[in-house]
Amino acid sequence: MDIKVNIEGLNLSKDLIDSQKANAGKALDRLWSEKEGMTGWVQLPIKQDEDELNRLLDVAEIIKNEAGLLVVVGVGGSYLGAKAAIEALPKENFGIDVRFLGTNFSTAYYNSVLDEVKEKETVVCVVSKSGGTMEVQAAFEIIKEVMMQKYKNERDVNRRIIAITDKEKGQLREEAREKDYTTFEIPSDIGGRYSVFTPAGLLPMAVAGIDVRGLMDGAREAAMSPDWDENGTDYAVARYLMHEEGKIIEALEFNQPRFEYLGEWIKQLYGESEGKDGKGLWPATLIFSRDLHSMGQYLQQGRQVFFETITIVDSGSDSIRIPGGALKGKSLHDMNEAMTNGVIAAHKNAGIPVCEIHIPKLDAFNYGQLLYFLETTCAITAMLMDVNPFNQPGVEDYKAEMRKLC
Ligand code: PA5
Repeated sequence: MDIKVNIEGLNLSKDLIDSQKANAGKALDRLWSEKEGMTGWVQLPIKQDEDELNRLLDVAEIIKNEAGLLVVVGVGGSYLGAKAAIEALPKENFGIDVRFLGTNFSTAYYNSVLDEVKEKETVVCVVSKSGGTMEVQAAFEIIKEVMMQKYKNERDVNRRIIAITDKEKGQLREEAREKDYTTFEIPSDIGGRYSVFTPAGLLPMAVAGIDVRGLMDGAREAAMSPDWDENGTDYAVARYLMHEEGKIIEALEFNQPRFEYLGEWIKQLYGESEGKDGKGLWPATLIFSRDLHSMGQYLQQGRQVFFETITIVDSGSDSIRIPGGALKGKSLHDMNEAMTNGVIAAHKNAGIPVCEIHIPKLDAFNYGQLLYFLETTCAITAMLMDVNPFNQPGVEDYKAEMRKLC
């Protein structure tokens, strides 16, 4: 695997790590066994249906050629994977604008997206595994009405709608059949937060111009990596040991602002997979260097209830250099490196546990590896914590209460 993790800064003894490695290995075997529910994502990259991927890329091509805007209607796992990748990755192919609806009930936010719909040739991609999430239902009904006002007849609206949902179940599937929408499937054994490599993630990414094949190649590389037999589970074990030591928060830090939504994706993955039965690490996200000038104070000298995981892209462009002053000649990449290493040194000197995740280069291939690595790590840590990584009874509770009030 090209993703490298350095857990030395967590100050965990080798004996302690070794004591949990066998359990982590067993958890990994369970994930691969095909006997555990909701683990379809584990082998997805190596069982990729080529015909279906080609169909998806063909549909993306048609959208890009015919429209100027894709509006993705979805929430949680049905939007974060796509949103994070679109923010993080360079666009290697021609792409169009992608906006998201269904993540809030803000009139101002809706108006900003709907104004764009009125101006641009638009395709709507509604994503919901269950087909019954209220944020999505509301957004879908609202945007369909705006599309009707724009395109005037139902047939023209329906051919501009793509539904990504469960193969059989749910009211979105029923509506898609009835209205003859183009559809893609989220496999029934893959939950929302593990669905980034399904059409839920891939279609919006392809429309935005991301190298989706490169991403899947990276995920496959990570899935097949021999590293899992050696140090591949170290980060999962380390996170579990930090939890057992009483750490409450994992401060997930990024030295690239384009990883802000990757942080949101990880927050959902970790928070929803691990936060149950009174257990779990609270995933907090920070962007460097911005947050060093605010939360940096708390990290250095505040209540030590956290450990840090810094995700670092090792290579970068030297194309912008500081033209004058004391820092003359330094590139922004040099400065970013100095900032990151400075933070690590200062925090280690203060005895704060710091873990590093290194990505050699920011491209679809490495990003695909990273996502697969994080999904697997999260599932293993949750299993070590003895919680079910694949359910979300707490989220269902809020959905049920809200339904009563609507
Ligand atoms: O991970 C999960 O299962 C959830 O966060 C869902 O992704 C989210 O609630 C949206 O659900 P759905 O895709 O059914 O609309």
